[in-house]
Amino acid sequence: MMRPCLLAAAGLCLRVARGREAPVMNEGGIPYAISNAAPGGEYSTNFNVNAMGPVEHFDVYGEIRTRYSEVYWTRNEPINLPPDLVKRFDGKVMAITGYEIDQVTHAGPQPGSTTTDTKLGGFACYPECPGTDKSVPIYHAYNHHYFSWLVGKNAEMVIRDKPSRIPNPTWTSFRDRPGVNSQFPSSIVFKENPGGEFRKSYHGYPGGFAQLVESPQQWVVNPMQIDTHNRNVDITDESGYQPWFLPTSQQNRMTDFNSRLSPLIECPCTDRVTRKIVNESGKEMHYWAYMNGTFKEWEGYSCEGEPRSDMAQGGVGTGPPGPNPACSMATYHGGLQCCWPGWFLTDLAQEALIPDKTDVYFLKWRYYP
Ligand SMILES: *[C@@H]1O[C@H](CO)[C@@H](O)[C@H](O)[C@H]1NC(C)=O
Ligand SMILES: *[C@@H]1O[C@H](CO)[C@@H](O)[C@H](O)[C@H]1NC(C)=O
Repeated sequence: MMRPCLLAAAGLCLRVARGREAPVMNEGGIPYAISNAAPGGEYSTNFNVNAMGPVEHFDVYGEIRTRYSEVYWTRNEPINLPPDLVKRFDGKVMAITGYEIDQVTHAGPQPGSTTTDTKLGGFACYPECPGTDKSVPIYHAYNHHYFSWLVGKNAEMVIRDKPSRIPNPTWTSFRDRPGVNSQFPSSIVFKENPGGEFRKSYHGYPGGFAQLVESPQQWVVNPMQIDTHNRNVDITDESGYQPWFLPTSQQNRMTDFNSRLSPLIECPCTDRVTRKIVNESGKEMHYWAYMNGTFKEWEGYSCEGEPRSDMAQGGVGTGPPGPNPACSMATYHGGLQCCWPGWFLTDLAQEALIPDKTDVYFLKWRYYP
């Protein structure tokens, strides 16, 4: 007989419900075209088949709120897993056999939400939250990348001074609490730099494989989102990309005409950002300031010349050869270094054009243990 997951024999798995099709997220399910694009692609996108037996699921929602052209790049308040699930797996191991992601609006209760007046968090349900979810198209809200973690009671969060995982960095990591001595992982990290594919890429591990976490208690999410939503249409409207106002630095200078996404996703440096060069005891230091605020050091790139790299003289890769503008702060015109949390990617003079309409939506995961 097929076994639902790795550790069934040890009695550590979820006791599974009967049923052939796993209840995929959202009405009608997600067409996982990418996973099986090649002719004859036969990787099953049915979670029950991949796990070689019925799976259960639980849902987690991380809240995002932005106004037009705003960057959201923040670690949300930790989100508590549903209490009955936490209790059931206390001292036991959960085997995650796959997961799905979407970005959605949610109409309905938000049980146990950790969002406060000053910080955004989220909520979780087992198996799912009552209410209605609607997908938010990527041309309205752009997912640049994300990190998320399933965190067990044996794990503790560590905030780094310097980020890891550059070029889509994180300052967050998890490690075992002191004195913990377990053969099972205390946390799992999930990460993609998708720019959209996260929804249509199937995340189901082949039969016999799973990611394990001992005594799961919380879920932590750190998304990077860019608000490109023309407020003349609804956030769930499948209108296609609706161009709207752009900073002067991008007008008539778009580099991408074909993606049907807003060029704001290229993180233009606008006049909200000033560049300052400070002579600190003979050493030139380069800084950004947003809205004349606190200086942020220009991190720069390692712009090697050939043969190690063509960064220094290879242009932008699409135009004529020459120095790559990203190699120096003076010529850098867009990218991650102009895209920090809470920064707006439109001009100061366009402030009044940004409507006081905050989009509220969620990055939603469905995990299949
Ligand atoms: C920064 O301050 C200067 C001088 O007060 C002002 O002219 C400029 O508009 C400010 N820039 C921003 C982005 O706030
Ligand atoms: C910084 O200071 C050093 C030594 O005092 C000087 O040689 C250099 O030209 C200065 N650089 C700038 C940009 O002022």
